[in-house]
Amino acid sequence: MRRSHLSAAVAALAGTAIGDSTSRYCDEASSICYSGWNSGNGVTIGVALPKVAKAPFDTVLQIISPVANGWAGFSWGGTMPYVPLTIGWPNNASNTAIYSSRMAYGLSLPQPYDAAEYTYLKGTGLNATHWTLNVRCRGCSQWQDVDGNLVSLNPSDTAAPFAHAFASKLPAQPANNRSTFNVHTKFGHWSLDLTLGQNEDFDKLVAANLVEEQPPASSSVSSTSSIPTSSKVEEQPPVSSGVSSTISVPTSVLPSTLSTSIRPTSTPDPVQTGVPSSCSGVDPLHFPLLTAPGWKAVKVAGGLTQPRGVIFDKAGNLLLVQNGLGITGQSVGPDGCLGTAKIVVTQRNLNHGIYLSAGGKTLFASSATSVFAWDYDAATMSVSGSSRIIVTGMDSKGHVTRTLTIPPKRPNLLVVSHGSNDNFDFESGNIKVGRSCVKVFDISKAPAGGYNYAADGYNLGYGLRNEVGLAFDGEGMLWGIENSSDEIHRTVNGKSVDIHLDNPADEINFLGDPAKANKDWYGYPTCYTVWKPDVITDRKFRVGDQFVLAPNATFSDETCKSKSKAAKLAIQAHSAPLDAVFNSNFTSMYITLHGSWNRSPSTGYKVIEVPFTKRGGNFSPTAQLSASANGYNDILWNPDVEHCSTTQCFRPVSIAKDRFERMYITSDSGAEGEIIILGRA
Ligand SMILES: *[C@@H]1O[C@H](CO)[C@@H](O)[C@H](O)[C@H]1NC(C)=O
Ligand SMILES: *[C@@H]1O[C@H](CO)[C@@H](O)[C@H](O)[C@H]1NC(C)=O
Ligand SMILES: *[C@@H]1O[C@H](CO)[C@@H](O)[C@H](O)[C@H]1NC(C)=O
Ligand SMILES: *[C@@H]1O[C@H](CO)[C@@H](O)[C@H](O)[C@H]1NC(C)=O
Ligand SMILES: *[C@@H]1O[C@H](CO)[C@@H](O)[C@H](O)[C@H]1NC(C)=O
Ligand SMILES: *[C@@H]1O[C@H](CO)[C@@H](O)[C@H](O)[C@H]1NC(C)=O
Repeated sequence: MRRSHLSAAVAALAGTAIGDSTSRYCDEASSICYSGWNSGNGVTIGVALPKVAKAPFDTVLQIISPVANGWAGFSWGGTMPYVPLTIGWPNNASNTAIYSSRMAYGLSLPQPYDAAEYTYLKGTGLNATHWTLNVRCRGCSQWQDVDGNLVSLNPSDTAAPFAHAFASKLPAQPANNRSTFNVHTKFGHWSLDLTLGQNEDFDKLVAANLVEEQPPASSSVSSTSSIPTSSKVEEQPPVSSGVSSTISVPTSVLPSTLSTSIRPTSTPDPVQTGVPSSCSGVDPLHFPLLTAPGWKAVKVAGGLTQPRGVIFDKAGNLLLVQNGLGITGQSVGPDGCLGTAKIVVTQRNLNHGIYLSAGGKTLFASSATSVFAWDYDAATMSVSGSSRIIVTGMDSKGHVTRTLTIPPKRPNLLVVSHGSNDNFDFESGNIKVGRSCVKVFDISKAPAGGYNYAADGYNLGYGLRNEVGLAFDGEGMLWGIENSSDEIHRTVNGKSVDIHLDNPADEINFLGDPAKANKDWYGYPTCYTVWKPDVITDRKFRVGDQFVLAPNATFSDETCKSKSKAAKLAIQAHSAPLDAVFNSNFTSMYITLHGSWNRSPSTGYKVIEVPFTKRGGNFSPTAQLSASANGYNDILWNPDVEHCSTTQCFRPVSIAKDRFERMYITSDSGAEGEIIILGRA
């Protein structure tokens, strides 16, 4: 008896955070009854549904929030990416609250989501202390997951997983339901007993409470992105099988994708090898950028949908992954500016990785879980046939980008990087788990249905938290650029000190010959690299030394020296490096620093140059590890980096370098997706 009471109490706690509570409540004004969650600080979220056996069904969502919250969001699947999200916020201009229908395609700003349709219900409004959002949703009880599989809410689920997020800051344009907004300041996961939210006469109650007059809300794409009306979309039909056939691209995101310079089709202009002074039809940079002496940057495209990985094809066209959309292609004019965008692959789960086979005829791109391949023709900038799966079975949690590359000297090998599934992914300390590692697969022998990431292929290192940037040096050896952990503390003799502001360092790692298995452990999630030694006061460290979070009798900082492969160079903590390329003579490596949420004031949001030297036949950073603080230079940066955020500042992601050593660099800033060209002035 006692025991069953106890376990029931524990189960209840597991579903909710401390201070939360869930229960059935009925709204007096509308008579609609909800299964509701209470945050303990004034926020109520309720879900109402009809008495039905299975999805699809309409739902009603109620969010009541103190005005201190600039926005509040609800996840219909309990996680952030690839589930319908309802975001609400107050709109003072019309004295009410508005909804915004969204879906996130990674841990990034959720995008407008067209597959759910909302109608306001009575009671939506704003007063001196609270804002209230009451909406009916058609399309929130069923959706497609990252792999295109249908997910349904079960109306009799007594513990359906949901989640919330809040932030105090208002969205940038509160009257616009497509507005950008900043990262949440609080979020949490909990579950609701959906049977408590069932209403016998649901349809009648909803009909009696529908608001015919919609509160005024604009849905303009963005006040700042340019959409040349003359730009023509050459859309190809979605690929006929595989994941792509089951995934529809929200059409509303299409126009904003195609904001590029418009150029005449016949352009016999002389080829210019420098950076153009401007590109016609392209708006100015959304945020100012500065470059080091001798360098110049010009915007070549804007209004893009979270642009991530970018490469050149054999005809010199730029191929781009737009996260939540698919792959687009653009020709590059003789002046370096871009031609009209064309959709190459429509598949919204492609989120970062893209690469071409050595001959340029096979295009590879990745989702969180899989690597796909298509036959590709550079002359027409198009794929033919359906996609094939090359690698599958990767995780869909945490760090969901999978960088792809092919060794220049081993064109049959595909290298795939897989980050951790959390900030501290302890299981991944076991090489067999197949996360926080880089793995190699022989493309020429890919089995039907693809390789399994964890079980097949061989390692090029593990204990690598999130090796997003991969680059080959002049000897064909692989380098990896590591995005290290957040929120770390150093605990010695039971005393814990927050050292996260400037530790641990992000890293440049040598992964070696891609033709040979490398089973070395690079330390994560146990051994980290020091960036700022003086904040770790229990002992003396130098920049680049390794340390453990909580040294003990069996595992000390010294243990790291013998067990873990050290970085070759350390980078400022929370820079969040995402891509790396060498110049053509391998004297420099260029790295994009995306910038992280975990440092205030923020850092990163720039591109750096790391001098490299060849010694005894091997390339390495010119600076010693202990001299990492002077081991690289900024070549492009935001003037006001301390105020950068997910929606503020250029956020460098990926680099495609052309034969004139110019770099096309993407930015997935929440404010505007852009591409710049960076080169010698
Ligand atoms: C914005 O509101 C319009 C109706 O006013 C609606 O059609 C559209 O789906 C909404 N967009 C988002 C992102 O919620
Ligand atoms: C919006 O209105 C609420 C309630 O009147 C008020 O508390 C809040 O400060 C207003 N916000 C802005 C940005 O004007
Ligand atoms: C403001 O709205 C909240 C939520 O509906 C309600 O609890 C509160 O009583 C309202 N305040 C006033 C002054 O009407
Ligand atoms: C000592 O530290 C290591 C590494 O952090 C950890 O795996 C191990 O469990 C710890 N041992 C004890 C007895 O706490
Ligand atoms: C990179 O690391 C930062 C922490 O420094 C983290 O916030 C961010 O999510 C990571 N991004 C990627 C793409 O791994
Ligand atoms: C390497 O290339 C850079 C341009 O990218 C040039 O400035 C430099 O002089 C070259 N160095 C050598 C050793 O050739």
